[in-house]
Amino acid sequence: MKNNRLVIISHRLPFSFKTENRETTLKPSAGGLVTAVKSLDLSSFAEKPVWIGCADFTQRTWDKHRGLVDDSFEYVPIFIDKQSHKSFYNGFSNSVLWPLFHYFSTYVDYHHEEFKAYQLVNETVCDRVVEVLKPNDLIWVHDYHFIPLPQLIRQRQPDARIGYFLHIPFPSYELMRLLPSACRTYLLNGLLGADLVGFHTSDYCLHFLQSVQMALGQPTTFGRVACGNRLVETGVFPIGINYALYNEAYHQPEVVQEREQLLTSYPGKLIFSVDRLDYTKGVLQRLDALEAFLNLYPQWREQIVFLLVVIPSRDEIQRYSERKQMIEQAVGRINGKFATLTWLPVVYRYAPLSFPQLLASYSACDVAMITPLRDGMNLVAKEFVASRQDQRGALVLSELTGAANELGEALLVNPLDEYEVAEGLKQALEMPPEEQARRMVAMQQRIAFYDVKKWASDFIQVLLNAQSATPVGAGK
Ligand code: F6P
Repeated sequence: MKNNRLVIISHRLPFSFKTENRETTLKPSAGGLVTAVKSLDLSSFAEKPVWIGCADFTQRTWDKHRGLVDDSFEYVPIFIDKQSHKSFYNGFSNSVLWPLFHYFSTYVDYHHEEFKAYQLVNETVCDRVVEVLKPNDLIWVHDYHFIPLPQLIRQRQPDARIGYFLHIPFPSYELMRLLPSACRTYLLNGLLGADLVGFHTSDYCLHFLQSVQMALGQPTTFGRVACGNRLVETGVFPIGINYALYNEAYHQPEVVQEREQLLTSYPGKLIFSVDRLDYTKGVLQRLDALEAFLNLYPQWREQIVFLLVVIPSRDEIQRYSERKQMIEQAVGRINGKFATLTWLPVVYRYAPLSFPQLLASYSACDVAMITPLRDGMNLVAKEFVASRQDQRGALVLSELTGAANELGEALLVNPLDEYEVAEGLKQALEMPPEEQARRMVAMQQRIAFYDVKKWASDFIQVLLNAQSATPVGAGK
């Protein structure tokens, strides 16, 4: 039997528009969430799914160019005025929730008006969602931008079936306590409007349940929360990637060509990392670790190159724009200190990579160095592993990522300790090919099995079975 209609709600839509020389073209959005939702198996739904999100284009552009957009979903863009969106996105979402949920409590910049804007945007989105909803729709709300939305929808549609998935960590109660009490109560109650609340790891799930107990005084049993006559389920769904896409790209002609160029340009050992520009990613600490490594092991000088790719992100927020300067200073410091007339230790690029360039970098490098200070999951680590059809390469991975739970064969390091990371790097560079293959194959099997399709279908299955819509005690 086919599933009910699916309604996806996320802050970003999977596309935007770009106008150059008076010609408008479609610009696909990047990011884990968009890729995940795009990879859903849509054939299991009776009707075309709907995707609701905030537009980063005007109503006029939409009316004129909506024909450019694919028709796998019915897209519903929501047009929010610039000032409210700024307070919602740069403000409360990315200057309160993002740093707090990633344990950067001193970066939290709380302003009551921005919290109000966050509430207002969620209410506006709710209004539009309610207009679009049909009976029996399966609603799936995504990420920290829309924490209040499940409850707002529930108030208007008490029988709705609502799932919510958080794509970032859920922090321990000690962090949640830092929020003003009205704010944290509002957020926690927001999530409790859902029938199912999903997280990447069991830690995040436990933290949520603990906050519900401590902040709301509501008891939780076996991962369930009783809310009036409803039972809210929680669950752990570690997001995966489109494994086949990354694995099969190894032999794509553009990837092969880019890889050959990289291997010719860097005949020594190649270390690679790619991250969005974000303080959570630990790029500065990674550079410190590289410096420590070159100091400790001078025999490796001129034998390695670190290809450091940083992708522009959220650059209207000062914490992000200042980070760019700090990274550039650190790269300059290391290159200035160790470069010879014919060798540069760090090759730095501040721009996105095309898919073939990314895949070529993953598959050409000897070591992927992925060392965030905190990361809900980290799909780069999984993409790197999937890309290694040759079963070569070593992964140095921060133990503070969600992905570390599934990638135990990586060299797990604490990103704050430059000596530990430097040792991890040395071990990775010296790892014999048989050991690389043994570790790689074990990781590949795991992430090939729990890929993004399985993640989504698992979540939807649990949501369909969730008991919340049934009043507690009914049928007795
Ligand atoms: O990890 C959370 C997330 O919202 C992802 O879904 C997204 O790819 C990433 O952060 C970047 O976010 P933004 O939409 O702010 O560019």
